[in-house]
Amino acid sequence: MDSIPTTKVTGETVRSDFNSINTVLHYTRAAHFLGLWKSERALIAKYFTAPAAPLLEAGCGAGRVAVGLWHQGYRAITAFDFAAELLEQAGNLAAEQGIDGITFLQADATRLELCPALRDQSFNGAVFMFNGLMQIPGREHRRRALRGLQRLCRPGAPFLFTTHDRDDPADRDEWAREADRWARGEQNPRLVEFGDRYFTDENGNTFMHLPVRGEVLDDLAATGWSHVEDLTRNALASETPMVRNFSDNCRFWVARKI
Ligand SMILES: C[S@@+](CC[C@H](N)C(=O)[O-])C[C@H]1O[C@@H](n2cnc3c(N)ncnc32)[C@H](O)[C@@H]1O
Repeated sequence: MDSIPTTKVTGETVRSDFNSINTVLHYTRAAHFLGLWKSERALIAKYFTAPAAPLLEAGCGAGRVAVGLWHQGYRAITAFDFAAELLEQAGNLAAEQGIDGITFLQADATRLELCPALRDQSFNGAVFMFNGLMQIPGREHRRRALRGLQRLCRPGAPFLFTTHDRDDPADRDEWAREADRWARGEQNPRLVEFGDRYFTDENGNTFMHLPVRGEVLDDLAATGWSHVEDLTRNALASETPMVRNFSDNCRFWVARKI
């Protein structure tokens, strides 16, 4: 019988989960059939106003956003992910569509200084879409990613990312029960911090941290970003049923490099 791991989720766990077959299929389908969401298109058009300027995408997965950006006219996109299987799908999708101008790289957002292809680069903006930042276990590691992306951007560059709210009133009771579990030491032993979730469904295993608003504001301030605005996807656009089925409502954050 397989033993159930009780060690905490690490970046390696997350990378291996994203490389698993069901997860790769899930994100590849989204890249082929969903493309950019209306809310993403609206914020990208608002903040990324120079399509020829270098743009960095963190956690590009199977290429949904990078290829979508290309179709919006952006022509200097560098997209990276640490999951090789997803990156291969992203390269295939771009090739199938005759796109040869996107640079895809394998890199870990928490260790960007180790990626030679990113060294000495300077981007006019960065995105980390669909909750990728919050799929990094451990607050200090998320801050490392925020610092690493900040270093690669020019002063004033916009940075766009999303989170799922922990302070959503609809989830208050569930988080109160989770706080009790943590107080008794009875939380899922694989979780790193309060606010983490690690679950399994038909798309594979998913780790995510759900932050409260103040936590994100503190993390931005500690890593050289100034907060510009944050708003929910529902406040931004009415998404198609396919998008709503793919992802719950989320919060978009916009920051600028100080
Ligand atoms: C929810 S998926 C989103 C994929 C794609 N951006 C999309 O919207 O379809 C999050 C992505 O972040 C990547 N990711 C998570 N942690 C990462 C890290 N430390 N370095 C690089 N990529 C990471 C995962 O491999 C995955 O592709």
